[in-house]
Amino acid sequence: MPQTYKHDVLIIGSGAAGLSLALHLPSDCRVALLSKADLNQGSTYWAQGGMAAVLHDRDTIDAHVQDTLSAGAGLCQRKAVEFTVSNSRRCVEWLVQQGVDFDLRQDRADGKEFHLAMEGGHSHRRIIHSADRTGRAISEVLTEQALAADNIEVFTHRVAVDLIRDEDRCHGAYILNQKTERVDLFQASAVVLATGGASKAYLYTSNPDGASGDGIAMAWRAGCRVANLEFNQFHPTCLYHPKAKSFLVTEAVRGEGGKLLLPDGTRFMEKFDERGELAPRDVVARAIDHEMKRLGADCLFLDISHKSREFLESHFPTVMQRCSELGIDMSAEPIPIVPAAHYTCGGIIVDTAGRTDLVGLYAIGEASSTGLHGANRMASNSLLECIVYAESAAQDIAANLPDLPQTAVSHPWDESQVTDSDEDVVISHNWDELRRFMWDYVGIVRTNKRLERALNRVNLLQSEIADYYGNYKVGNDLLELRNLAMVAELMIRCAIERRESRGLHYTLDYPNQLAEAKDTILSPSNSPLKT
Ligand code: FAD
Ligand code: SIN
Repeated sequence: MPQTYKHDVLIIGSGAAGLSLALHLPSDCRVALLSKADLNQGSTYWAQGGMAAVLHDRDTIDAHVQDTLSAGAGLCQRKAVEFTVSNSRRCVEWLVQQGVDFDLRQDRADGKEFHLAMEGGHSHRRIIHSADRTGRAISEVLTEQALAADNIEVFTHRVAVDLIRDEDRCHGAYILNQKTERVDLFQASAVVLATGGASKAYLYTSNPDGASGDGIAMAWRAGCRVANLEFNQFHPTCLYHPKAKSFLVTEAVRGEGGKLLLPDGTRFMEKFDERGELAPRDVVARAIDHEMKRLGADCLFLDISHKSREFLESHFPTVMQRCSELGIDMSAEPIPIVPAAHYTCGGIIVDTAGRTDLVGLYAIGEASSTGLHGANRMASNSLLECIVYAESAAQDIAANLPDLPQTAVSHPWDESQVTDSDEDVVISHNWDELRRFMWDYVGIVRTNKRLERALNRVNLLQSEIADYYGNYKVGNDLLELRNLAMVAELMIRCAIERRESRGLHYTLDYPNQLAEAKDTILSPSNSPLKT
């Protein structure tokens, strides 16, 4: 039998954003924390480089703000940038209080100063990290704290299907229990989408399985606006090897002097930007794409072999181990790399408290569009955004909870009209097709024609998926495909609306940047898209 659960707050997602929010809520608040797989299977766990924060004596909030604005190519909202950056030091202190072990400088006598790494777009060393497994360090500590908290009830292998709303507000969500295969009802006074990004829309990605934009699609179907989804960030350096599915080589390698090389061993980044390998990601990824296409090369190379083996082992143990498993010795030879889809800069529109357009519904982390990233996220600003907005959303929820009505009656999930599927091949075929045409037509370099082709394809897929969804019982693969196709359509529509090249959106038909920077905002209320 399907179950009904009641909590004060329902948090969908157990990455840095969802876990931090749960831990910031008051201890008398009854919280349900959901994850569609194990607790640590979102992007957070895989974050390598670290988290940007103003910690160095010579660094300033103003410098971090300026670097973020400049990487964002004129489209960041200054208020969101100042809000995030000015909270960075406090967020680091909170993480340290929770028990996260960040690396300290070995060359200081008192051993109490953080080691700060350098990454693209930053004018100072400001990346606090735990070797090259910062996400894992954060995820493990926050998970442990959440599991120990009496007020937080954790549910794994539960997939949110859709939000429940009436005319005024959000009341909860329908949740598929992957073990019982039933869709349960979770009711709550406040619902938080902390569901991560949608980079699985692309054939090649640094993201783990599950980055299918579920929260963005659910919010859209519930009537919320989304913004700037044309800005898909491609990380310049993912490991190129047939067995290296989704493996990132952290930007901190370039921060420590790693050089990008053509197959003949020559450097090329200076031709594209005076900052060379440490130019922002959009510039570096586009330069690599250009050189690969010009030479017909399958990959280019990243060389850090001038550093000692001891240095590499202490700073990049994860990258070194993965390379070595695949027969690459990064202390002696260059690493083969290609760009891959990495981060969804746009998302659900929220304010500085994470509030969406729908009362009672919040969005934080990669699923949201806060205005921090503009047209291109600066490296290591994402974990920071997760932690800062988790705190501000928790404060807003706690302040408003006494006034929020205890949930209205909602209808249980109705599956009286559907049967078990006997043709799952449709799902796997559509997954492959979607991710391939998004890579080919909505990738690093776009044109009007390619975007129109992608739109036609996604419309066809959408109608096949709707048919399937209406006739068969839901499962995780179908739900992810349905969400990914919807978010892909939103990405394509945003890309078609932007008639200029700015930040991560580069089109041969409009190669220049317009004088005025404007967000691309899509609203379900006046959209031709089906919700
Ligand atoms: P995630 O950590 O992705 O978590 C999403 C959660 O939502 C998961 O628990 C998932 O199970 C759950 N979920 C999703 N859909 C549903 C559903 N329908 N029902 C139930 N649960 C659902 N950023 C940095 O700032 N610094 C870095 O060094 C860095 N390195 C990175 C390296 C890699 C390889 C990757 C992939 C990303 C990196 N990023 C980095 C980006 C950063 O890690 C992510 O943007 C950030 O961790 C996102 O956190 P999140 O909490 O929003 O989502
Ligand atoms: C990396 O370590 O290169 C990823 C950093 C980020 O995505 O912010």
